Amino acid sequence: MRLVLLGPPASGKGTQAKRLAERLGVPVISTGDMLRAALAAGTQLGREAQAYMSAGKLVPDQVVIGLVDERLDQGDAKKGCILDGFPRTVPQAQELDQLLARRGQRLDAVVQIDVPRELLVERATLRRTDKRTGQIYHLKYNPPPPDAELEHRADDQEATVSKRLDEYEAMTAALLPHYQQQGILSRVDGVGTVDEVAARIEAALGQ
Ligand code: AP5
Repeated sequence: MRLVLLGPPASGKGTQAKRLAERLGVPVISTGDMLRAALAAGTQLGREAQAYMSAGKLVPDQVVIGLVDERLDQGDAKKGCILDGFPRTVPQAQELDQLLARRGQRLDAVVQIDVPRELLVERATLRRTDKRTGQIYHLKYNPPPPDAELEHRADDQEATVSKRLDEYEAMTAALLPHYQQQGILSRVDGVGTVDEVAARIEAALGQ
């Protein structure tokens, strides 16, 4: 199974990707996580990406395409993967089609998670991540355990979230027709509990 989870910032892609990955036994490839790891490691790529990320802007296509190209060659990704946060632009989607074709692979499904903007701001600003485990929590909807070592993402401040949502609407909306034409796009309602949304995604995937 090679699957793309599409959706605006804080729509629940990371939360659902982790669950699906455990069930399907394939890795999650998250360009956001890879960029944050590069930043934490202090690499040149991380430093370059930081300016874009903290301004709520997309990192240039060639940077993220290069990361995904390398990641697809790792052994665990050969049997499938869940792409979270990539592609985000039509050039990224076209390049992904080619990266997979060169490996004799193709996408099986693209699932768009729809959530209204006012809920997205609340989901992002109250998100916290356990830095030891990478587990994603929410101070209201999914409170962390007392011993979690919580991080608040720098780009989850309300003003930056708003810019990320604008950027998503401007850049990513054009992706939907790309995948509609390929006949592999499903849309699910992302409002509801994590279990309810997971059940909708599984239904959309025909599982
Ligand atoms: P990235 O890390 O990909 O961020 P994003 O797309 O903005 O998505 P998020 O990680 O914010 O949210 P999510 O949809 O995964 O939601 P989550 O499950 O955490 O990208 C960050 C930045 O990196 C970008 O702005 C850009 O600069 C750069 N970048 C990354 N990829 C790029 C690319 N391809 N091209 C160019 N630049 C790129 O859930 C959010 C919160 O809601 C959590 O607290 C969670 O607990 C809670 N929650 C989840 N589901 C529910 C539910 N059903 N009900 C209630 N609460 C819920």
